[in-house]
Amino acid sequence: MAATPPMGWSSWNKFAEHIDDKTVRAMADAMVSTGLRDAGYLYVNIDDGWQGKRGADGVLQPNEKFPDMKALTDYVHSRGLKIGIYSSQGPRTCAGYEGSYGHVMQDAQTYADWGFDYLKYDLCSGEWFYDEAATVKRSYYEMGAALQATGRDFIFSLCEYGRFDVGSWGRDVGGQLWRTTGDITDDYPTMAKIGFDKNGKPEWAGPHGFNDPDMLEIGNGGMSADEYRTHMTLWAMSAAPLMMGHDLRESTPETLAMLTNPRVIAVDQDAKGVQAKALRKHGTMEVWAKPLADGRVALALFNRGDAASSLALVPGDAGLTAVTQVQDVWSGTKSAKLPASYTVPARGAVMVVVGD
Ligand code: GLA
Repeated sequence: MAATPPMGWSSWNKFAEHIDDKTVRAMADAMVSTGLRDAGYLYVNIDDGWQGKRGADGVLQPNEKFPDMKALTDYVHSRGLKIGIYSSQGPRTCAGYEGSYGHVMQDAQTYADWGFDYLKYDLCSGEWFYDEAATVKRSYYEMGAALQATGRDFIFSLCEYGRFDVGSWGRDVGGQLWRTTGDITDDYPTMAKIGFDKNGKPEWAGPHGFNDPDMLEIGNGGMSADEYRTHMTLWAMSAAPLMMGHDLRESTPETLAMLTNPRVIAVDQDAKGVQAKALRKHGTMEVWAKPLADGRVALALFNRGDAASSLALVPGDAGLTAVTQVQDVWSGTKSAKLPASYTVPARGAVMVVVGD
């Protein structure tokens, strides 16, 4: 599972608890009609807010906004997509809905019976064990084992905010991605803090296990085009899961172009699964490098300042003595050598793939 970072859409950033069967179906439809599915976005994930009450047998029922979960997963599957669901280890989820505490095996079986393919498992309302690393780890292990016991393939997404060195044990509990930070919001300072400074340890990332700096905000309108380009560039360089978070029905051509650029997706989805590191910093500028499976190297030049700035990339940034092929990842333009310097707009990014 998840040889490369999972890609898809999640309800939380745009809809929060205001999510229902009709909207999930509409997102699946939009994923197909916009070309997002064919660009690689596969999962349609219901986040918090779907849960109803437990029956006398303890089986959790969805609330009135989700009349028939099996019919919903069948519909999403019929569109050539997969579908995810959400819970938390405590008695309550982060938004106060019914959690899985005391019902772990039962809930995993319910998700499997309904036909889900992905579980995001949060860390809320279990305050009595929040500060106990071993207990937190065990609670993830229990759900990971319960999902496996169903015999159905699940992506298991750990959401415990990078605590207790999660990336060093996320794989051991059956996880393929683990949140490394607090929640993203649709503004540049929050996105930049998460993407540049907080996203776990690069050595934790690799095929089948990725640091998760949270879902994308592209398309939600709170950032400029240059800031969103930085968001997408950072996530691709970081081998981050690409979970869209906007109303797909309202995708502008610019948003779709940014989310479906095949060269950008190829950097994110590269088979080597390396999370880029910052190599050097000059004033507001940062150079990041991500070695790729074919021996080439993706380089990103970020300008974290509020005015345009220029800097050269050099072969040594890619660990090379000479560069004979350069491709601008966003535009696709190819050349035989690196230019004398790149001028990067305020809060913007340039990304190239270079080889010798
Ligand atoms: C936490 C998570 C979010 C979202 C909400 C739902 O805050 O970090 O991504 O799942 O819970 O309540």
